Amino acid sequence: MKIIVTKDNIEGGTKAFEIIKKGMENGDKVLGLATGSSPIPMYDDMCDSDLDFSDMTSINLDEYYGLKPDNDQSYHYFMQKHLFDKKPFKHSYIPNGMAKDIDEEVDRYNDIIAANPIDIQILGIGRNGHIAFNEPGTPFGSLTHKVQLTESTIKANSRFFDNEDEVPRQAICMGIKSIMQSKKIVLLAFGESKQNAVKALVEGPVTEEVPASILQDHPDVTVICDEVAAAKL
Ligand code: GLP
Repeated sequence: MKIIVTKDNIEGGTKAFEIIKKGMENGDKVLGLATGSSPIPMYDDMCDSDLDFSDMTSINLDEYYGLKPDNDQSYHYFMQKHLFDKKPFKHSYIPNGMAKDIDEEVDRYNDIIAANPIDIQILGIGRNGHIAFNEPGTPFGSLTHKVQLTESTIKANSRFFDNEDEVPRQAICMGIKSIMQSKKIVLLAFGESKQNAVKALVEGPVTEEVPASILQDHPDVTVICDEVAAAKL
């Protein structure tokens, strides 16, 4: 695991952007993308760049269950706003949070991931060590699945909603096994609230109680964090 400590999230975003740029120069075609505040500076760099993504495929990690794509808290909306409006991809996949048949949607998403092996997967990390919406206790062997969000995640994410009651309780999420099959993984973590998660990810035992800890077993992971998030290492 390679660890890059930056001054702040802006510098961290630029480091992640440089990895994507280099990957594309070397022929990468499929990007696994994440939402949350951590990757926003990286998306800003992508939007400001002269890179052309029109021949690329993107696959997002997750989506809230029950939010329409035009809801400003949906991850569809987030991706349009922060990336796709300015930089359209050839194909962009995000789980359908309005799917009537959730099992069918889960199967469809697993087929998409199988047909488009991910070259670079971008990840954030939850305060409790979750990756995407794979909460503590999720089996390392999991594929795409429907998740019940934990109280900790509902609370953490309520800052984006008018109040906690509006945060969906469920989501559709790429599984840990699929994330681990990506060729390269770049995880972004910034700020004090991520200190414990970063320590557990880098130095803790590999345990399903800390989903991100499995990344210790991946051959090509880069963790990019600011000095504050890295303070307990
Ligand atoms: C959500 C997302 C995760 C993200 C996490 C951290 O729970 N599903 O993919 O990593 O939030 O978000 P942030 O980067 O805003 O701290």
